[in-house]
Amino acid sequence: MQKIIIAIDGHSACGKSTLAKALAKELKYVYIDSGAMYRAVTLYAIENDWILDEGKEVDREPLIENLDNINISFNYNSTSGKSDTYLNGINIETEIREMPVARAVSAVSKIKEVREKLVEFQQKLGKNKGIVMDGRDIGTVVFPDAELKLWITANMEVRTARRYKELIEMGSHISVDEVKQNIEARDYEDSHRAESPLKRADDAIDIDNSYLSKEETLHEAVRLVNEKLLSI
Ligand code: DC
Repeated sequence: MQKIIIAIDGHSACGKSTLAKALAKELKYVYIDSGAMYRAVTLYAIENDWILDEGKEVDREPLIENLDNINISFNYNSTSGKSDTYLNGINIETEIREMPVARAVSAVSKIKEVREKLVEFQQKLGKNKGIVMDGRDIGTVVFPDAELKLWITANMEVRTARRYKELIEMGSHISVDEVKQNIEARDYEDSHRAESPLKRADDAIDIDNSYLSKEETLHEAVRLVNEKLLSI
């Protein structure tokens, strides 16, 4: 069976990673979480005290100078059955999901040099196709020729409730309002930055999953994949 590239984009906490993971599993494709890469670079910047003004600003120069010292990899975790993110050989899967990283990641992902490094890495990972990658610019910049592009949406209440639940389950002490504010701030920052802003690709197919279960969303995506495979 021919293998394709599936690009999944959308705003923060819209359900794209959940779908991308399930779809990759179903198709026996590789799943790549491009947001985890931006989060890993952000954690590196936090560890080096290069994040300023509560996450709004970054000390760009040392970060850019050190980009070659940042090695990101993914390894399968047999306990959780998921892939964990590693930064220079250390498992950082938990830290990159926490609020300090969430607050600073939009400022870090604005930096042109950071994007160039990560996009090159992402394109390398997609060389052999058979990949599902989710993010903000996958269908527009990373894989403009992806055979299937999905644009995932969900309403703000649903997105906030889902992310809040995830954070509480991780042991975070956070309010619903704080979660909502972070999502809204990232929506704004990610859509208004100069470098590859979050944008729906013209040839993307929309899936609004506000009122769909995980299974229903997966079912619709699999249907779209099969339709695509039959047409190429
Ligand atoms: O998907 P996520 O919420 O884990 O992504 C974290 C941040 O990384 C998001 O706020 C913007 C940035 N990002 C990006 O700029 N481009 C991508 N392809 C993926 C994520």
